[in-house]
Amino acid sequence: MRKKPGKWAVPRPFLKWVGGKGQLLDELLKRVAHAGEFERYHEPFVGGGALFFELARQKRLGRKQAFLSDNNANLIGAYRGIREDVEGVIARLEVHKAQHCKEYYYAVRAQVPEALLDRAARIIYLNKTCFNGLFRENSKGKFNVPMGRYKNPLICDADNLRACAAVLQKTKIEVRPFEAVVGKAQSGDLVYFDPPYVPVSKTASFTSYDKAGFGEESQRRLADVFRKLDAKGAYVLLSNSMTGLVKELYGDFTLKRVRANRRVNSRADRRGQIDEALVSNFMR
Ligand SMILES: C[S@@+](CC[C@H](N)C(=O)[O-])C[C@H]1O[C@@H](n2cnc3c(N)ncnc32)[C@H](O)[C@@H]1O
Repeated sequence: MRKKPGKWAVPRPFLKWVGGKGQLLDELLKRVAHAGEFERYHEPFVGGGALFFELARQKRLGRKQAFLSDNNANLIGAYRGIREDVEGVIARLEVHKAQHCKEYYYAVRAQVPEALLDRAARIIYLNKTCFNGLFRENSKGKFNVPMGRYKNPLICDADNLRACAAVLQKTKIEVRPFEAVVGKAQSGDLVYFDPPYVPVSKTASFTSYDKAGFGEESQRRLADVFRKLDAKGAYVLLSNSMTGLVKELYGDFTLKRVRANRRVNSRADRRGQIDEALVSNFMR
């Protein structure tokens, strides 16, 4: 029997990402197995890429082409930098690591370098040392998270970065709004959507626009995209919170309730167990 890779086997997500998967991964993996011989893999809200890296780690993508995208250009820049010259990113991270201190953190935070590798190393450095591994930018696109209080942050995990670079070589990585997947995915492809979640808290106002800029109207457009892909004959998988809106939007597909301890909220006091919904058009 093939041994399952241990928790620290690489590749793993190289960024800490709010919404990164935890227990949900097993449920997602079961569904991917059910899709069997799918053709190509698409992840249009890639974030930290928890499912992509897990599939790669378990060698379950084989020779399949993967399309990773997100509308966050800094995030996609980090993926591209690693794919194009991981040794260059590692060398720059070593420089950040050697100089890491409060003054240095705020100096790096204030600069926005031009070159791809400098940008990639900056984002990884800030992500590993900032408060809670948040990735927050203000309205002008400036990273504005304060420094975290880590004794010994793992700024440069060279082995993992190299393993990530290896599995990213054949991927297409693009800055795109999620709707673009309709033009890319074909019959037999597998698409996994992990959008910003519909807020669960009763106090959260959720009208047309929420904090993440992904309000009810975006959730409805996403459900349309889900339907279009279903009509095309793709395998479609989506995670979200188990809320009235999600039940309404995906009521005619298979919805499974999963209890998860997931970091869906950047505020420590709002973390904890929530019910998540896994929606698919191919598994009961
Ligand atoms: C819940 S996170 C994804 C988490 C990811 N699956 C992981 O494992 O870390 C949602 C992602 O959607 C991206 N996003 C938000 N609005 C988007 C849009 N309209 N089009 C594409 N990506 C978007 C955000 O930048 C963020 O990376």
